[in-house]
Amino acid sequence: MKLLEGKVAIITGASRGIGRGIAEVFAKHGANVAFTYSSSVASAEALEAELNSLGIKAKGYQSNAADFNEAQTFVDAVLADFGTVDILINNAGITKDNLLMRMSEADFDQVIDVNLKSVFNMTKAIQRTFLKQRAGSIINISSVVGVSGNAGQTNYAASKAGAIGFTKSVALELGSRNIRCNAIAPGFIETEMTAKLPEDVVKGWREGIPLKRGGTVEDVANACLFLASDMSAYVTGQVLNVCGGMLT
Ligand SMILES: NC(=O)c1ccc[n+]([C@@H]2O[C@H](COP(=O)([O-])OP(=O)(O)OC[C@H]3O[C@@H](n4cnc5c(N)ncnc54)[C@H](OP(=O)(O)O)[C@@H]3O)[C@@H](O)[C@H]2O)c1
Repeated sequence: MKLLEGKVAIITGASRGIGRGIAEVFAKHGANVAFTYSSSVASAEALEAELNSLGIKAKGYQSNAADFNEAQTFVDAVLADFGTVDILINNAGITKDNLLMRMSEADFDQVIDVNLKSVFNMTKAIQRTFLKQRAGSIINISSVVGVSGNAGQTNYAASKAGAIGFTKSVALELGSRNIRCNAIAPGFIETEMTAKLPEDVVKGWREGIPLKRGGTVEDVANACLFLASDMSAYVTGQVLNVCGGMLT
């Protein structure tokens, strides 16, 4: 059964990693996909071709989610190209880890801009469309460190905790218009980023997780599929930890 047949989904930051996994799962479930990326032109073009070959409509847009005006320009382009939008996944994110003692103001600001301000930018840009159609599902990709905190990641954890506060507030504000907003808090997800880490470090992480493995991008994408589809029609304002039991 295809859960998103004919729906239009925006996914920010889908040229690789979790965003790419979400795009692939959504396309397999019949969604048309408009996605953004920052600089990975070749992988974005490859993804666009791969998704279109599945018989849905897909298009990649180079757009900086941290820029308020660019976010609006991107959403306007998607509306012109696809006619409507039903689902917004705010996935674009970066890390600039350091101990607070060594963290620069620029590294704090950049992480907040890309991870949190982008969520505001994109939600503002799509709000009118969702209000008019009296429907919409917004999913913000937070992190377990936004729930629990993490030494060496004050900027990142603050951005991800901020995304949770934003999620709950949007759910309260827009619920009466049938607009749902939820957050997903992934734990340790094995992507290209984590593939660069030493094997013993990764092994240690895996052993500390109750399910004894890192997550896959499909694990996160399947949770997004649930929250994007009508299967979760009565779920809003929630944070779903997709972390193999790291947080209980
Ligand atoms: N991996 C994990 O273990 C984990 C755990 C918890 C939460 N998360 C969150 O999940 C999300 C995806 O993580 P990931 O591991 O898949 O990251 P990733 O592999 O580094 O991919 C990040 C994606 O975001 C795009 N991007 C970066 N800055 C952008 C900007 N300013 N505007 C638009 N797009 C931008 C990148 O585009 P380019 O390719 O062009 O740079 C790329 O497509 C992030 O929000 C991250 O914080 C990840």
